[in-house]
Amino acid sequence: MAGTGTAVGPKTTVDCYDFWDRVFRRAGTIDYTEGYYRGDPTVPYEQAQHDQVCYLLDEVGCRAGSRVLDVGCGNGRLLEKVRRRGGEGIGVTISPAQARYCRARGLDVRLLSYRDVGEEWTGRFDAVVANGSIEHFVQAADALAGRADAIYEEMFAFFHRVIDPRSPSRRVVNTTIHFDNINVTPGAALRSPWSLRWFSDEFHCALLVRGFGGYYPTPGQLERCARPFFRLVAGRDATRDYHWTSEEWLRRGRRSLLSARLWGRLLPFLLRHPLYGARMMFLLNVARTWNWQFRGERPPMTHLWQTWDWMEPQRSAAVEAGPSGPPAGLTGSSRRAAGDGAAAADLGAGEVTGDRLTPPAPG
Ligand SMILES: C[S@@+](CC[C@H](N)C(=O)[O-])C[C@H]1O[C@@H](n2cnc3c(N)ncnc32)[C@H](O)[C@@H]1O
Repeated sequence: MAGTGTAVGPKTTVDCYDFWDRVFRRAGTIDYTEGYYRGDPTVPYEQAQHDQVCYLLDEVGCRAGSRVLDVGCGNGRLLEKVRRRGGEGIGVTISPAQARYCRARGLDVRLLSYRDVGEEWTGRFDAVVANGSIEHFVQAADALAGRADAIYEEMFAFFHRVIDPRSPSRRVVNTTIHFDNINVTPGAALRSPWSLRWFSDEFHCALLVRGFGGYYPTPGQLERCARPFFRLVAGRDATRDYHWTSEEWLRRGRRSLLSARLWGRLLPFLLRHPLYGARMMFLLNVARTWNWQFRGERPPMTHLWQTWDWMEPQRSAAVEAGPSGPPAGLTGSSRRAAGDGAAAADLGAGEVTGDRLTPPAPG
């Protein structure tokens, strides 16, 4: 990693989910993304989580017979719902603990990076979901070396390739944290957090890079990289949803610190990864870096839900060549200006980029 001497990347991501597995999943919390609160923070956590997955499946028109690829499937909660709708879901994850957990529940989950999916999956799916996984695909060192766009383009090319051109759905939906009201360079995020001013933006970002393994896009970056393959048809600012979810995670995490069973599960991990484990406990409970991302009037990060339509290759080429490309992303401030207030935190007018299409009704 560009001069850090620290391995940050997929191994960090694998360790991080091993850690989550011990802290959260075995304590009963299996969701690793935000819920859907529709502007109401009093919605119970489990309901919000359920509604978020339903929203994503509705966006891609998942119904009986739908073939859905879940890229970064976590503990398989979305795949469970695909199955309940009578669809066929396949998940990929790079976490062995998640793959084992999902398979034990009869889900078709492969321990595989999406980058290693072979030609046998070409044209096999109606839709692709990436619910909170894109944040791991680019590393800070990639961003520093100017490789981020190429990685996102390759990702969209992959999504395009695995979707069946004859499918009536042909959609991708993703939920992704973006850098927004913050000015941090990848070089700073790669520095040791302890060499930075404590609790500064750089300090939190350096902790995130070391804790989770990954780097975020900026608003508009995914639209630019999707250009030859997909058209953005819907977008929603879900920053407040992530804020409310992460505050609930913090409450649950702090409660579980009092549990002897948690420490029994965590101890073998802490013995194997003492530095990582100590840093993660500091990140979560002392610096509260995860929560910092979504707190305040102008949070440093913006969380976006985006729905994309597959484009015919000839149309892709035309769009690429033509003077007016697909709609550019709104900036964080214009999205918030449009999206202030409870109703607008929902699928508010002004947050939708491009024409909103009605997906086929779920089965
Ligand atoms: C924040 S979790 C989200 C999990 C799940 N989608 C959910 O909503 O609970 C990110 C997921 O991305 C997966 N992931 C990270 N990099 C990946 C890659 N290159 N290929 C496939 N999955 C990856 C992780 O293993 C993890 O399952």
